[in-house]
Amino acid sequence: MTRIELTVNGEQRSAEVEPRLLLVHYLRETCGLRAANVGCDTTSCGACTVLLNDVSVKSCTVLAVQAAGMSVTTAEGLAPDGELHPVAAAFRQNHGLQCGFCTPGMVMAAVSLLAENPHPTEEEVREGLEGNFCRCTGYHNIVASVLDAADVLDPGGTRAAGVSA
Ligand code: FES
Ligand code: FES
Repeated sequence: MTRIELTVNGEQRSAEVEPRLLLVHYLRETCGLRAANVGCDTTSCGACTVLLNDVSVKSCTVLAVQAAGMSVTTAEGLAPDGELHPVAAAFRQNHGLQCGFCTPGMVMAAVSLLAENPHPTEEEVREGLEGNFCRCTGYHNIVASVLDAADVLDPGGTRAAGVSA
């Protein structure tokens, strides 16, 4: 067992973990944070996406010990006071989800994308989220949600001309 210290959703945590424990299992089983889902065993679906030091990662590809000393944010951490984060609110507003299984991962990937590129084009959103699969929505409303969130988060920003929202 290895002792790790890390911050999860702003809270300092310390735990003894197996060196082989995946971050997603640490979050779900040890921390009781169930937003990050496990949707595959091939590192392909993105349902497990969280932020590690503000950058999106698939938490099924990171060992808990690799997150030692770092800051992890899950979808729960976006709403510390129970109020929806603007990106999550945009998903609700634009019907960017159906069953909701992919949604926490999609939202985290979108938060990371918008932090890097506050006003992405439609194509950039599609490219930015290509590591996240959705079996329900056909993606159209997810892309619309992210574009809408960009406008809410940075109302004065501009997107490249000629690309529809
Ligand atoms: S569970 Fe599918 S990429 Fe992590
Ligand atoms: S809303 Fe069902 S998988 Fe995306």
